[in-house]
Amino acid sequence: RRVMVDDLDIRERARVLKDKVDVSLAKGHINPMLQLANILYSKGFSITILHTNFNSFYTSNYPHFTFRHVLDNDPKDANLSKLASKGIGDLLSGIMLLNQCSAAGFHQELNQMLIASKEPIVCLITDALWYFTQSVADGLNLPRLVLRTSSLFCVLVYASIPVLDDQGYFNQLRLSGRGTRFEHESVDLDLRNFISPIEESNSKKVENIESVRNLEERVSELPVLKAKDVLKMRIKGQGDPTAKLLANMLKQTKASSGIIWNSFKELEESELQKIHQDFPIPSFLIGPFHKYFPATLSSLQEPDRSSITWLDRQAPNSVLYISFGSAAQLEEQEFLEVAHGLATSNQPFLWVMRPGLVKGSEWLEMLPNGFLDEVGERGHIVKWAPQHEVLAHQATGAFWTHNGWNSTLESICEGVPMICSPFWGDQPLDARYVSDVLKVGVYLEDGWARDEIASAIRRVLVDEEREDIRERARCLKEKVNVSQTTLGPD
Ligand code: UDX
Repeated sequence: RRVMVDDLDIRERARVLKDKVDVSLAKGHINPMLQLANILYSKGFSITILHTNFNSFYTSNYPHFTFRHVLDNDPKDANLSKLASKGIGDLLSGIMLLNQCSAAGFHQELNQMLIASKEPIVCLITDALWYFTQSVADGLNLPRLVLRTSSLFCVLVYASIPVLDDQGYFNQLRLSGRGTRFEHESVDLDLRNFISPIEESNSKKVENIESVRNLEERVSELPVLKAKDVLKMRIKGQGDPTAKLLANMLKQTKASSGIIWNSFKELEESELQKIHQDFPIPSFLIGPFHKYFPATLSSLQEPDRSSITWLDRQAPNSVLYISFGSAAQLEEQEFLEVAHGLATSNQPFLWVMRPGLVKGSEWLEMLPNGFLDEVGERGHIVKWAPQHEVLAHQATGAFWTHNGWNSTLESICEGVPMICSPFWGDQPLDARYVSDVLKVGVYLEDGWARDEIASAIRRVLVDEEREDIRERARCLKEKVNVSQTTLGPD
């Protein structure tokens, strides 16, 4: 009996730990890295993947790679134990902490690898966020290439943070314009959540700041953006821990031997010119990676195949696919607005409800009473979907997305119009780009209100306007195909 109880305890602890690890992973970073590794492998390189024990890899999916644990962090370490929770604040403080404390250990392990390796190690490729690896690579005379998993546009905005800060764009807690109240509350609330444990003492409570601009005003330096887009990045200015992290990331990217982008020239032509001016190192635009190696091949989570059998029963272009990526979290009220909006829109939907998507909830328990009965067969809910296949399915008519860059690119590649509901970071920037530059999305820019949600759903799936959006999305898809035939990942 004792053995059984112990056994259960252990299993439960292992399950909880695995959930934490899976949620805290940003698949939007790991998927592209694995896809890039596959692309390079197909060009004849042998690949060693270095990863920490924060990742749970299904290494059996990659028998052609060598996997090596590095920086074998002690989970009992007082600092690291703070990281095992779910919010984006924890994710960012984890990134900062590992950057601060990993250089010596990584230098030692990489050095041992260089000495022991039978083949010459020609290059280290790291995610741009691991900026500490530049000094390690320099110290070992090893070229470092940076993988940047966002759009070029987003990096240009990050590079403009000091200018935007000087012009007061981050200090707008009293604002005028539509949706002000929502914005104010949301930003204030989230800033408190967002303060990372390790940087808490540096953060100052933001209060009593006079309104300087209208939310709807275009940013003079970057006219694609509105003032409220800058706020939604959830940065409080140059002194903010996230801004410092981004500044370090950009500095060490400029010191690298080159940047690999998961984007393509035809999509961000004018941004590429500016990147060449700001970053005097080679830029390699070899995306979209998933066109060479689908995301499902590099996925760390089993997708629910019932998504496809359910889609097979729906009419062409009729379904709204909903997913907010691997890390974003909804407040309970926002979640209820989503559910009511879906119910009133009366359109078929496939909804990815990741466990932990709603703060304070395990899975579906916060759905309004009677919701599942009301929508019946019209709606299908899964924990994780084969997103690439879903977007390519003929029944999928639109994608309600948080505009993580991978999701945005995947939607563009399949010619699927978007409803944009970004959460933080690069997402509000991509949402603005999708709606105002590419014009293939409807931006829910004033938050989560059921009527506006239902109206946006009708705009992309039912109203006459949907044909124009769909046509532009189709043209963009063509550009992807052209870019692939002219470039390829050579
Ligand atoms: C993170 C950040 O949130 C994002 O802003 C940044 O651009 C990249 O890193 P994430 O939130 O995971 O990414 O979003 P996204 O970039 O869209 O990546 C999600 C990936 O998971 C996509 O490749 C998508 O295809 C996949 N996915 C998502 C599934 O395979 N199934 C699902 O059900 C949901």
